[in-house]
Amino acid sequence: MTTSTTAEYGTDRRTVTVRVNGRDVAREVSTRTTLADFLRDDLDLVSVHLGCEHGVCGCCTVLFDGRSVRSCLMLAVQSDGHTVETVESLSADPAELHPIQESFAEEHGLQCGFCTPAMVLRTKEIVETGRQLTDAEVRHEISGILCRCTGYQNIVNAVQSACAKLRCGGPGTDERGE
Ligand code: FES
Ligand code: FES
Repeated sequence: MTTSTTAEYGTDRRTVTVRVNGRDVAREVSTRTTLADFLRDDLDLVSVHLGCEHGVCGCCTVLFDGRSVRSCLMLAVQSDGHTVETVESLSADPAELHPIQESFAEEHGLQCGFCTPAMVLRTKEIVETGRQLTDAEVRHEISGILCRCTGYQNIVNAVQSACAKLRCGGPGTDERGE
């Protein structure tokens, strides 16, 4: 039986074309490069935070075709032909925050900020469903992202504030108001 060595895997490179934060980029990457490393190291999108690097902390969360994924668990080559959003896409000007970012600031939904890009992107995904969630449902929805600092209540408040600003429906409704 033949086995491939790490060195052999490492020499395999592919070109990926991916739409990142509204811009099409094409890069040659190793087939071993994770999506997280590609975003941070090749595209300088350092809001993508690496904590555990094995799928537990959720701090590397990005939106992939509009859905939150752990970018440390994906390979860059898997992004070929897809759309990725990081928190850098929300506001080009630090003086003009996106309403979700405003909500996190106003509700003190962060302390060290390590989990915050992931929490903000997860909130964007929640807001875009059009559903207004209960606090318990928000806690469930953000449960894949670990925060070591806040105790979560202020993050829940921030999510609810963002939903209110961006006009989610009433409790228990979806985008069709049902
Ligand atoms: S760094 Fe990806 S889940 Fe922790
Ligand atoms: S604010 Fe520090 S980990 Fe969440």
